[in-house]
Amino acid sequence: MTEQIYKGLAGVVADHTAVSKVNPESNSLLYRGYPVQELAAELSFEEVALLLWNGELPSAAEKEEFRGFERSHRALDPRVRAAIDLLPLDCHPMDVGRTAVSVLGANHPLSEDSSPEAELIKAKELFAAFPAVVAYDQRRRRELELVEPREDLDYSQNFLWMTFGEEAPEEVVDAFRVSMVLYAEHSFNASTFTARVVTSTLADLHSAVTAAIGALKGPLHGGANEAVMHTFEEIGIDPAETREAAAARAKAWMEQALAEKRKVMGFGHRVYKSGDSRVPTMKQALDAMVEYYGRGELMGLYDGLEAAMGEAKNILPNLDYPAGPTYHLMGFDTEMFTPLFIAARITGWTAHIAEQRANNALIRPLSAYNGPDERHL
Ligand code: COA
Repeated sequence: MTEQIYKGLAGVVADHTAVSKVNPESNSLLYRGYPVQELAAELSFEEVALLLWNGELPSAAEKEEFRGFERSHRALDPRVRAAIDLLPLDCHPMDVGRTAVSVLGANHPLSEDSSPEAELIKAKELFAAFPAVVAYDQRRRRELELVEPREDLDYSQNFLWMTFGEEAPEEVVDAFRVSMVLYAEHSFNASTFTARVVTSTLADLHSAVTAAIGALKGPLHGGANEAVMHTFEEIGIDPAETREAAAARAKAWMEQALAEKRKVMGFGHRVYKSGDSRVPTMKQALDAMVEYYGRGELMGLYDGLEAAMGEAKNILPNLDYPAGPTYHLMGFDTEMFTPLFIAARITGWTAHIAEQRANNALIRPLSAYNGPDERHL
């Protein structure tokens, strides 16, 4: 009998989820039933996190309670700082993020307590603690001192404060908040599925998130936002160039790349084949940043690549395509882009970990053996 193989598990429905719904036909994405565009327009990232964990929008009292909790759990744990300081400055920041979560898990008093209450506390703490890891890592690479968190700022404002040591303007904070909301959750993508696989063995939450970070690092998944910027860098970024000239160079680069059968990161999606539901909202945030920083030439590169890919292969951009240049304009180093994705996706991962635990079955598929027939020594 020849087994049916679902390479890459493409088309396989692995389980139910009530966390989010991706609908490729209508290009829509719902978090707990709410269109992500509406959430990005109206809510803080903290409110979206509570929605993903609890299944419902938070009441005023729940918001207030989480506000206090989140703001009081932001400081970089000295043990995490010590572990980060042992890592070389040229290691990838995703390695730093992965190590930081692992260290937090090893030191957590509730590490082995997988009750829903303990899991939610750990999820909220991780949400609050991770921005300091990203901020500190970018700063140490630039030989800058750690900046302590500020309790008078919200999540997005404080994230930018800790990274850059100055208060970010409203426009920048808003684009950042939108990116966090859009990156928060996306059903059974590779890293979320990884988190669910690890959870299904009854391992602890920090192990599941650490594994998920490993999956997110790859350029076919989260690493694509960084790779997009490397593409822009390879083409050459020149703020003095006109938008039209930049677009023409980008088009020529793409034609050449496709002729060489290169995969160009930031385009294509396993589920969306006629456009990523999150792109229009992220593109608006990018447009706002381009206008704020007066960097029209970057949009020349952006438009040129998109047009050439569309004409040649009819493959459309995914969320990482507008997110990459947005983070670049804000001042994040290119290698920090995927750790920003971790900060956002901690919400979705931990919501899925809770869901997996509540109705668990060990995830363990079969394989079709195609090695040598039985033989003997
Ligand atoms: N650049 C160039 N060609 C691409 C492409 C890209 N970004 N994405 C898909 N294609 C082409 C493939 O080469 C393949 O062409 P072929 O049939 O002529 O061989 C075809 O489209 C199907 O691609 P495949 O990789 O098999 O589809 P998939 O459903 O497995 O791919 C991705 C989904 C995301 C892995 C793929 O689109 C990709 O690698 N994109 C770049 C990475 C990226 O941006 N990831 C972030 C996702 S949110």
